[in-house]
Amino acid sequence: MTTPNRLVVGITGASGAILGVEVLRAMQSIPGWETDLVVSDGARRTLALETPCSMKEVAALATRCHPPGDLGALIASGTFKTRGMVVVPASMKTVAGIATGYADNLLLRAADVTLKERRRLVLVPRETPLSPIHLRNLLTLSELGAVILPPVLTFYNRPAGVEDMTRHIVGRILDVFDLEMPGFRRWGDATGPVS
Ligand SMILES: Cc1cc2nc3c(=O)[nH]c(=O)nc-3n(C[C@H](O)[C@H](O)[C@H](O)COP(=O)(O)O)c2cc1C
Repeated sequence: MTTPNRLVVGITGASGAILGVEVLRAMQSIPGWETDLVVSDGARRTLALETPCSMKEVAALATRCHPPGDLGALIASGTFKTRGMVVVPASMKTVAGIATGYADNLLLRAADVTLKERRRLVLVPRETPLSPIHLRNLLTLSELGAVILPPVLTFYNRPAGVEDMTRHIVGRILDVFDLEMPGFRRWGDATGPVS
């Protein structure tokens, strides 16, 4: 069986829930791709605190939305083929869980499956400052092949505001999966930075 164009998206309770929402929105504009979403209990809280989006609206952006406690969901099994997973934003708790294989919720299990099946795993960790524990866990995951993609501020594209910076991060995430976000401005593009 060829691998279907499916991306697992995990949103955790780190600040920056809108990043996960915007990844789902961007994926909707890419033809032929499905998304499997899992939103942690912590993320339900940050979504409500930080965004105008209801859980129902966020769930509707995905092809399938799985409850975080459903360890029997499709994405809990390696036999359900996907192109990989992005955890965006990734809390330090979830980073620790993935780094140690402590898969006690569906999001952690899906990330564990992604690693064991040698699929692409992208983590968008959000915390500052970072403690040695955070750094060790992130290094462990990087050495295991995960892509650590912190949502750092980008200035060379002259962002008009936080929406532009958010879109840029989403473009960088999609790049890892060889997907092109419409309107993504790359260094050197004709529409790129003013010199
Ligand atoms: C408003 C708010 C902001 C938070 N921001 C962060 C953050 O940036 N990074 C982080 O690691 N945890 C953050 N936390 C704490 C996590 O939500 C908490 O550790 C939670 O248990 C993470 O669980 P989860 O990874 O299953 O979502 C925040 C919590 C709240 C309420």
